[in-house]
Amino acid sequence: MEIFEALIQKDNAGRLTFFEIPFHARERFCKPKGTIYVSGTINGVKYRSKLLSRGGGKFLMVIDKGLQKSIGFDGQAMTARVVMALEDIEPAGNKQEEPASVSSGMDVLTAIKTRQSIRKFTSRPVGDELVTAMLCCGLYAPTAQNKRPYHFIVIRNRQLLAELASRNSHAAMLAEAAGAIVVCGDKNIEGIKEFLYADCAATTQNILLGIHGLGLGGVWCGVASSSDWRKLLIDLLELPSKLEPASVIAFGWPDEEKELCHRWEPGKIHYDKW
Ligand SMILES: Cc1cc2nc3c(=O)[nH]c(=O)nc-3n(C[C@H](O)[C@H](O)[C@H](O)COP(=O)(O)O)c2cc1C
Repeated sequence: MEIFEALIQKDNAGRLTFFEIPFHARERFCKPKGTIYVSGTINGVKYRSKLLSRGGGKFLMVIDKGLQKSIGFDGQAMTARVVMALEDIEPAGNKQEEPASVSSGMDVLTAIKTRQSIRKFTSRPVGDELVTAMLCCGLYAPTAQNKRPYHFIVIRNRQLLAELASRNSHAAMLAEAAGAIVVCGDKNIEGIKEFLYADCAATTQNILLGIHGLGLGGVWCGVASSSDWRKLLIDLLELPSKLEPASVIAFGWPDEEKELCHRWEPGKIHYDKW
């Protein structure tokens, strides 16, 4: 267990609240690879979180809105006493629970800003209850006229994953993924092609955010309408003609760290007119 003083602050753009880990987390926690999950207290308030890489072996911990409130962070930099230990049990959610009670503890803004595509996975299996929780996130996405014109095909079969991986270099990570979710749009339910894809895209992003919130990693693999891969998906998954495969989401326990990136681009934002 580590005990240290941390400076809790906002990043330059004022979007993320975090503190830096003042030691080499991989060495200190004997975790040479994979995601580092930690738990402990900040000024006596309990937390569980994962550390995010800043590159160069440095890590930080993002503090979500709920925790900020509990520790009395008001937006001004403050020092806090942090007790931190490696969390060697599975993060919240990997229990035999109803999907409704699976929770992540990560607030939505933090989840959106810290989600990144994960393409390397450990061999650790992902329980069915977590997959159910991901699917549940997908089912809560907005859709045109609330038609919810999708079906999800969960792939766990290793041979199937390997076959899909081998036939699309952009989806090679499927060979190592714990599984995949194929999001299919039902053309009979939503006849407007643009809406069908928009609905499937919204549900795909919801699932990706859910995956991230659960402490897992995932990546969106696109399915081009003219591609052989689309045909392969239709064949292998025996999709009826009404179903259009729109995306394939690879998921698993992350085996890579990525630096947080900043994407605030004021030049892309316009008010009232161009
Ligand atoms: C429509 C769409 C198709 C994508 N297809 C692929 C893909 O085939 N393979 C892949 O590795 N990533 C794919 N991605 C993921 C993007 O490469 C990734 O989201 C992007 O580089 C930004 O990185 P981030 O997700 O870490 O923010 C796709 C994303 C979208 C939205």
